[in-house]
Amino acid sequence: MATAASSVLYTKIDNPPLKVVKAQGNYLQTQDGRQIFDATAGAAVASLGHNHPSIKQAMLKQLESVDYCYSPFFTTSAAETISSYLTESTGGEMPKVFIVSSGTEAVEASLKLARQYFVEKGEPQRTRFIARKQSYHGNTLGSLATGYHKGRRAIYEPILRQNVSHVSPCYAYRDQDSGESTEAYVQRLADELEAEFQAVGPDTVCAFVAETVSGTTLGCVPPVPGYFKAMKAVCDRHGALLMMDEVMSGMGRTGTLHAWQQEGVVPDLQTVAKGLGAGYAPIGALLIGKRVTNALTDGTGSFVHSQTYQGHPVACATAYAVQEVLRDERLLENVREQGEYLGDLLKARLGSHKNVGDVRGRGLLWGVEFVMDKETKRPFPASKKIAAKVHDTGLQPEHGISLIPGNGVADGTDGDIILIAPAFNVSKTDVELIVGRIEKVIHAVLGA
Ligand SMILES: Cc1ncc(COP(=O)(O)O)c(C=O)c1O
Repeated sequence: MATAASSVLYTKIDNPPLKVVKAQGNYLQTQDGRQIFDATAGAAVASLGHNHPSIKQAMLKQLESVDYCYSPFFTTSAAETISSYLTESTGGEMPKVFIVSSGTEAVEASLKLARQYFVEKGEPQRTRFIARKQSYHGNTLGSLATGYHKGRRAIYEPILRQNVSHVSPCYAYRDQDSGESTEAYVQRLADELEAEFQAVGPDTVCAFVAETVSGTTLGCVPPVPGYFKAMKAVCDRHGALLMMDEVMSGMGRTGTLHAWQQEGVVPDLQTVAKGLGAGYAPIGALLIGKRVTNALTDGTGSFVHSQTYQGHPVACATAYAVQEVLRDERLLENVREQGEYLGDLLKARLGSHKNVGDVRGRGLLWGVEFVMDKETKRPFPASKKIAAKVHDTGLQPEHGISLIPGNGVADGTDGDIILIAPAFNVSKTDVELIVGRIEKVIHAVLGA
């Protein structure tokens, strides 16, 4: 039994979380006997559910051939196979792949490669990045400086690098004016990005960085049609790169293997992680577009960055096995089909609740935003901890559902959401169970 004397540095030091003793399919069994439906696949990670037999087999097989080797000295079939799979999955648009152990590491590598690209091209004055408010790109100092979530940054602000500025996210629910067309809204956001390039000096910017479909810090908001095309046009005008962070929204989560495939643009740099290894191994990857690949190949020929666990053979073999299951079990189709059903059901059952302001998402990545007042969209004050209460209540034995809480979506401080991101192989019955349980939890916290 975990106690306050545990050596584990818990998220809340004196408040040990529930101890999971078995994870099977969609369920987490805790030591105190709860059966919790994992409606978020952990942190939108366990896309095949838990304890999938083929993945275990693939991991064991890899352990029997090569468990680990140091990637600057040796390559392995495991690293070659998953990397070429990823390149092929982009139709060859991303010719090179750099495998790391997490989303944050993929983002760090991406930021560094963007910088190196411009040094290779003879534009060393490019040192800046433009990212978006209410975004999340990871928790190391570089990635934290790139994202913008007030709470996660606050105490580190004085030691974060100062070469990132933040423009508005694409957040139609709050920011598109009533009567404003989608085209006009997109134009306004493009104008804002253009103005930011001009403010910092267009030839000083390495890249514009954005989550293709936002994750927890904005709450599963898909871009409006035409948004990324317009942002890319601004980047192109100034020779800057487009960096799309698909750590959460990629690898099938939003219905296509790559979320950008629904946006009519191809990024120069793309990061993926969570669904890549589906939680069976810690793995993330940076996918590198043609322009950057060519500059590197024609230039110094080597990326000035490396990590000990880069291209870890077991992680690579695991990720490839996950992708095989995705293909063999036709899970992208299931994500689209069950995702649409999940969205429809959430809207039908929760949309009219007095405190549900918005239900949005894509594929199997959905967010429910809570408000005090539906008319004015006034959020609850952060001090009410609404999303945290929904999360805690969900974990109680009578509800048995795990949901991800998020805060600060409205203005960086206030604004609560819950995120729903189940495994890609959920059934119609699972979706009905999820929505039924969420409805009861919301009624328990906010009233009917
Ligand atoms: C969009 C995005 N980028 C980066 C990260 C960081 O990934 P990790 O937690 O694997 O380091 C996350 C994690 O939630 C994310 O959602």
